[in-house]
Amino acid sequence: MSKTYAAITGVHAYVPDYVLTNQELETMVDTNDEWIQTRTGIRERRILKGEGKGTSHMGMEAVKGLLEKTNTAPEEVELMICATVTGDMQFPDTANLIADFVGIRNAFCFDINAACSGFLYALTTGAKFIESGTCKKVVVVGADKMSSIVDYTDRATCIIFGDGAGAVLLEPAEEGYGIRDALLQSDGAGQAYLYQKAGGSRYPATQETVEAREHFVYQNGQPVFKAAVAGMADVVTRVMARNGLAAADVSWLVPHQANRRIIESVARMARFPLEKVMINIHKYGNTTAATIPLCLWEWEHQLNKGDNIILTAFGGGFTWGGIYVKWAY
Ligand code: UT7
Repeated sequence: MSKTYAAITGVHAYVPDYVLTNQELETMVDTNDEWIQTRTGIRERRILKGEGKGTSHMGMEAVKGLLEKTNTAPEEVELMICATVTGDMQFPDTANLIADFVGIRNAFCFDINAACSGFLYALTTGAKFIESGTCKKVVVVGADKMSSIVDYTDRATCIIFGDGAGAVLLEPAEEGYGIRDALLQSDGAGQAYLYQKAGGSRYPATQETVEAREHFVYQNGQPVFKAAVAGMADVVTRVMARNGLAAADVSWLVPHQANRRIIESVARMARFPLEKVMINIHKYGNTTAATIPLCLWEWEHQLNKGDNIILTAFGGGFTWGGIYVKWAY
């Protein structure tokens, strides 16, 4: 019997309506549209507004649309994993909240925190439950409300991030379609360069942590930039080599959207022409766990059954990875 792979059989996403432009950021911090566009490629990003709306709101919109689109009843879903660093609450997990909103009641649900690589970690984990025969329908969500942890007085970070959510359905497939290979990595030494210091068990919230602005994202951009280029180029090259793929055999490279210059460097190092690289960072900025499903959603109509696709991401931790997918529809 041929091996069962987990195929992506549907994708949907949600971005909030509010558009935060570079021009509006110019009124908030000492920055300018030209700097932001040339250093990052970002023109605008979406922000979730509304009292009491957290990451689960966006995840719920993405999953609701996904289930409708794929004619999946909520009770058919057996597992839902949500990748996020901005869960609605410390606990319970945001996957549980999304499940409650959309009526998924026969599933077990949990979150994965791997920052910008979260979607790849969650996709790989979800795929294992399909490959092992444990589940027939798994939903994988990547969702982040970065605006909830971004310091809008810090020009080094506030220009980068945006809010969004995307979700895919995984189902068993034979004949070689689906998630064929995953190469995931992490290195805790990266914690010094990208983190949110307070709010966890090491530095619980106090008046001092709030006043010191320690509940916001901190990033030392340049070391992260270098590690992101090296890490993604390495895993993309290795995952392709061990599957006998040259760039000409791959229809699309789908990179995490953190900085257009990072994407271009990775594409150059892995020998991909930019026409085969999904890039929408100009519209959404860095939505952390949501960037890759947002790309798949936008490009879905251009994907064909049998296309070889390489996903790659790099993020806080450090975490990074590359996944080879043979598109199934
Ligand atoms: O998604 C998770 C992983 N994260 C990433 O992959 C992000 C990796 N890092 C980056 O994308 C880039 O490092 C940043 C976009 C964060 C920063 O770009 P950079 O080209 O590395 O700039 P820099 O931090 O080296 O700063 C260059 C200059 C500095 O001024 P001086 O010291 O040269 O006078 C900064 O103060 O640009 C200044 N600067 C700004 N100027 C205008 C920093 N931020 C801004 C700003 N507007 N928003």
